[in-house]
Amino acid sequence: MLLQAQTHNSTFIFRDKPVYKTATVAMTGIQNPKILSFGCSVGDEIATIKAFFPDSEVFACDIDEYVLGVAQKSAGHMATVFKSNVENIETHGPFDLIIASAVLCRNPANQVVEKFPFSQFHEMVSILDDQLASNGLLIITNASYRFADTAVAERYSIVRSDIMVPMNFVDVFAPDGTPFLIQKNVSSRKAYCQGPAFTLKDDEEIGDCMFKKDGGQLSVQDLIYLSPVPESFVEHCVFERSLSELKSSEKLESLIDVKVRHRLGVDIISGLKGYAEQYSWPSTVNSSKVHFRPETWHLLE
Ligand SMILES: C[S@@+](CC[C@H](N)C(=O)[O-])C[C@H]1O[C@@H](n2cnc3c(N)ncnc32)[C@H](O)[C@@H]1O
Repeated sequence: MLLQAQTHNSTFIFRDKPVYKTATVAMTGIQNPKILSFGCSVGDEIATIKAFFPDSEVFACDIDEYVLGVAQKSAGHMATVFKSNVENIETHGPFDLIIASAVLCRNPANQVVEKFPFSQFHEMVSILDDQLASNGLLIITNASYRFADTAVAERYSIVRSDIMVPMNFVDVFAPDGTPFLIQKNVSSRKAYCQGPAFTLKDDEEIGDCMFKKDGGQLSVQDLIYLSPVPESFVEHCVFERSLSELKSSEKLESLIDVKVRHRLGVDIISGLKGYAEQYSWPSTVNSSKVHFRPETWHLLE
């Protein structure tokens, strides 16, 4: 029997657009994909999937009967909606894409180790892995544990893109329950501090949420560039904001001091206003370096 992981059911259409945009590229060549929304809540995620994958066959499950009823009513015409349990997932699988968004976690963080131990996370991930087709894509966002710590991870490669910025909102734990990343608020912005179990092989690993089956050994695929800054962009002014310069009521030991740089301007070929955005933070694997994410391009109109 499957346990309930996340007990909150908040959801909204077009949550995590950059993740979906990246998935459409990572799924290139898969016709009429079968997609599972694992933990669909009231069904907004079904509409998001249909928007990004119009030719997909969508399946959606939740463990909570009430939200499942709402999902059936509002989005049942776009998907096969069913109660989440191992038998039902097996009956409808295998899938080409499985999305577990804000499901494999517990709030508040002090309940995680007791109510949703790593063994439960591992079991759920294994069930999803069993029903993912070869070369299929597994998306796990906002999870209390890291996919990399599961035994199935060694068969997967990691998919990364310029537009997927590490933006989870839950604390992350090592399998033994030691904090890995601790979420804090800095002037109403989300910030992460390193917990005692924090260790990474590379700085990008902090935001990994997309995994391709049978890629092998959690190797990293080439980063997918989806929103490069056009050569015809002309900068008018620059604005930078780092977390550490903002006031915080909390103690922020081991803050990962993310800085966001905005170059504001115009694309002189199209005449459209926009901005180049770049995230960076002091490297957590090499203390003498700063980790820069690629710059991405955003239109204002
Ligand atoms: C915060 S909502 C996320 C909704 C949607 N995936 C999104 O990202 O917007 C979490 C949902 O996961 C569901 N959930 C928790 N444990 C589950 C399980 N074992 N199987 C399926 N759904 C589960 C909850 O009932 C809840 O509706």
